[in-house]
Amino acid sequence: MHKRSVYIDVIKNMFVLLLFACVLISCQKAKVKSAYTIGFSQCVGSDLWRRTMLDEMKMELSLHPGVKFVYADAQNRSVKQIAQVHGMLNAGIDLLVISPNEAQPLTPVVEEAYNKGIPVIIIDRKTASSLYTAYVGGDNYALGRMAGEYIGSSLKGKISVLEVMGLPGSSPAIERDRGFNDGIGKFPNVHVTAKVYGDWLKPNAEQQLFRIKDQLLKVDAVFAHNDVMASGVRDIFNQLNISKQVKLVGVDALPGDGGGLEMIAGKVIDASVLYPTGGKEAIVTAFRILNKEQFSRENILQSLVIDSSNVQLMKMQWSRIKNQQKDIEKQQGLISEQQLIYENQQIVLNIIVITLVLAIIFGGLAFYWLMENRKINKSLAAKNDEILSQRNQLIEMSVKAEAATEAKLNFFTNVSHEFRTPLTLIISPLQDLMRNEKIMAVGGKNMQVIYQNSYRLLRMVNQLIDYRKIEYDKQLIKASENNLVPFVREIAENFRLHAQKLHIHLSVSTNTNDIKCWFDANMLDKVLFNLIGNAIKFNNDKGKVKINIIKRTDDVIIEVEDTGVGMNPEEMNQVFDQFYQATHMPLNGSGIGLALSKEIIKAHHGSIEVQSEKWKGSKFTVVLPLGDDHLSPLEKTNRTDDLADLGKRSEIYSADLKLEPALTEIDPLRPPMEFSILIVEDNQELLQYLSDKFNEHFDVYVATNGNDAIIQAYECVPDIILSDVVLPGLSGKTISERLKTDIRTSHIPIILLTAQGSIEQQISGIDAMADLYITKPFNFDYLLANVKNLIRSRRILKDHFTSDISTAGRPSTAKSIDKKFINDFSGIVEQNLANDKFSVDDICKLIGVSRVQLYRKVKALLGCSITDYILNRRLKKAKYLLQNEDLSIAEITYLVGFSNPNYFATVFKAKYGCTPTEFKRNSFS
Ligand code: FRU
Repeated sequence: MHKRSVYIDVIKNMFVLLLFACVLISCQKAKVKSAYTIGFSQCVGSDLWRRTMLDEMKMELSLHPGVKFVYADAQNRSVKQIAQVHGMLNAGIDLLVISPNEAQPLTPVVEEAYNKGIPVIIIDRKTASSLYTAYVGGDNYALGRMAGEYIGSSLKGKISVLEVMGLPGSSPAIERDRGFNDGIGKFPNVHVTAKVYGDWLKPNAEQQLFRIKDQLLKVDAVFAHNDVMASGVRDIFNQLNISKQVKLVGVDALPGDGGGLEMIAGKVIDASVLYPTGGKEAIVTAFRILNKEQFSRENILQSLVIDSSNVQLMKMQWSRIKNQQKDIEKQQGLISEQQLIYENQQIVLNIIVITLVLAIIFGGLAFYWLMENRKINKSLAAKNDEILSQRNQLIEMSVKAEAATEAKLNFFTNVSHEFRTPLTLIISPLQDLMRNEKIMAVGGKNMQVIYQNSYRLLRMVNQLIDYRKIEYDKQLIKASENNLVPFVREIAENFRLHAQKLHIHLSVSTNTNDIKCWFDANMLDKVLFNLIGNAIKFNNDKGKVKINIIKRTDDVIIEVEDTGVGMNPEEMNQVFDQFYQATHMPLNGSGIGLALSKEIIKAHHGSIEVQSEKWKGSKFTVVLPLGDDHLSPLEKTNRTDDLADLGKRSEIYSADLKLEPALTEIDPLRPPMEFSILIVEDNQELLQYLSDKFNEHFDVYVATNGNDAIIQAYECVPDIILSDVVLPGLSGKTISERLKTDIRTSHIPIILLTAQGSIEQQISGIDAMADLYITKPFNFDYLLANVKNLIRSRRILKDHFTSDISTAGRPSTAKSIDKKFINDFSGIVEQNLANDKFSVDDICKLIGVSRVQLYRKVKALLGCSITDYILNRRLKKAKYLLQNEDLSIAEITYLVGFSNPNYFATVFKAKYGCTPTEFKRNSFS
């Protein structure tokens, strides 16, 4: 059992482990996925340059799997961009990359992010503040200057330049303008004659150029801040049919469709200053910052001027880069595919390993359990075989026991039948004799005993036969419908006289006087006779017997309640058992009456139960079902039962209740006997019998309960006590213990008389200091012999005690309490020998007993009266002093408590045949 729970725990732990491993694997994957969140706020995302920037970023990000990239396009609107950055900050980002639409409006939000501790990378355009972590982008000033120098160096004569600028307030526009002016400053022939803001957009630039179309005719060169606006200038020139050779210089020089390189190659513009997007560099820097590696705060990207002379080279370079990029992308795709496969395989491998480990453990456990189960099954099979064989033996034994019981019962039944005739032949002539007054005057008491016990025997015989019929022959009831109330009342009436004689109050009550019930009157009466008879028999003087008949919806209850001796739980459990004999019914209980009652009630489909408390009383409850649905046709009869017959039938149950006055009256004129006996017995008949018998030899005292016994023992101090063990109040054993430990009564021999015959019970009786334990049934002569014997041995003991005058050398006795008494008593006498005022009352006070008790005790233990003993001791001491001390007669007279030397001489002479003077003379002669 214990092992199994350990295994279950192991399995539980394994599952927890497996679960934990799976969670760990998935957690690791999740951890890789969300390592960092990078937010990218783009001022405008629609043009080619910005798309290229984003592509570059993504390409670089692809080398860092697991990074979350949050992208927002402000569509050229600063307000929108501010809101978007706020959104990112609230959602939680680890780093912000921003290309601010305009420097001033975006500065506060960038500072806010920076101050919150979020690293900020400014890309391309700048804010008006230095609160950022790093900057990535081209040098717009240098770039403007390159454009100025390029125009200045490639045109001769007086040159009029048109500058198409980006968004006012955006840093590249400001810086490029400044650089350009410084660039052309080196060429005094070159002047900016017109300036427009195209806001970085082609349509806006065209719109602005349209406004100054008149000035366009004078323009020799144009510097547009980006290639798209430069292409717009070309379009306007074409639209206005200006065929003049104008040098068009833009910025960005993007590769691919619609890019600056293609414009140069297609002669849409003449040159463009390379302005790298910095997308890749921004992401590289971002990871350096996040990984706490070294990084440069200012990351300025290189520029150069591209025109027809190097455009092809640039395009070639770009297409090579593009191809390489595609290869990288492809390889990256392959790598991530492999990575995925690897990760999946890793998970599968982990699961396989764990499963394998578990499989091995479970396999081991399963094998172990299998072995254990086999062992258990084997031992179970062995036990099973043993149980089976035991069961078979039990069946065999019970069959034999049943057969034996039946044989016994058959025997008893047959014998019982045989008994009936002689019993009838005893009872009938006896009844004739009892009618004769002369005979009754001589032997009435004995005839009464014969009469009662003959009836008792007849009742037991009848019950045995009835029990046999109902229990073994399954005799059915023959029920008819009768009113239960008068039936019960009639039965109770038959006991009234007996109850009155015993001063027992008998009452019948019912909740209704009409209770029609199906019962077999010839059988149910036996139950009620038995219950009411017992209730009276085992009751106390002035006790009560209450019979209650209660009609309920489906049944009727008959309760028979008494205030008698009651039963302990063990007796209660066995009271309906076959042949059970309760300890409180040593003579009267046949033991089969209640077992028969139970069978009769069972045959009526009813129930019988008992509630009882020792020395408080018992309540028997019979429940009978109402109606006749429960009865088969065979259990019913049309016969009506004659209640008049009940009186005669009750005789058999009440005969032994007719008790004569309990005790033999003591003849006051009879001279007192030598010895007295106290008989303690609660059974009146036995008490009567024993009193009569012992009365011939002893003065008899009686008690019917334990408490009375103690009082009587103290008052009468009998020579011997004969006591029953089971008694109302104190038990025989307790009486023995109490009296044997009390100095007043410890010398009295006690015989316990009981039906409890087991050796353990006898030992426990002897343990209670009883002198003898005699079991019932007993032979009176044997009992009498034992009583006489105990008194005789007590006398021998007494002679022994009194044989020597000296207390010092006295032999020890098993009765230590008696020894103590003799020691105390003789010690007191010894100390007071010189005291002529010393009296019996002084000794009583010193020992703590009454005069009578002291007298009886001294008589019982020392065989003489107290005064005789004291006188004897005085004379013995005087004799000793006369022999051994050189004292005068007068001195000795006072030393032994005599006040008068003449009286001393008289008493001394009476005892020893000479006067003290003569004695002294004789002793020394
Ligand atoms: C794209 C663009 C580029 C220019 C840059 C300046 O939106 O206008 O053409 O070089 O922005 O920020």
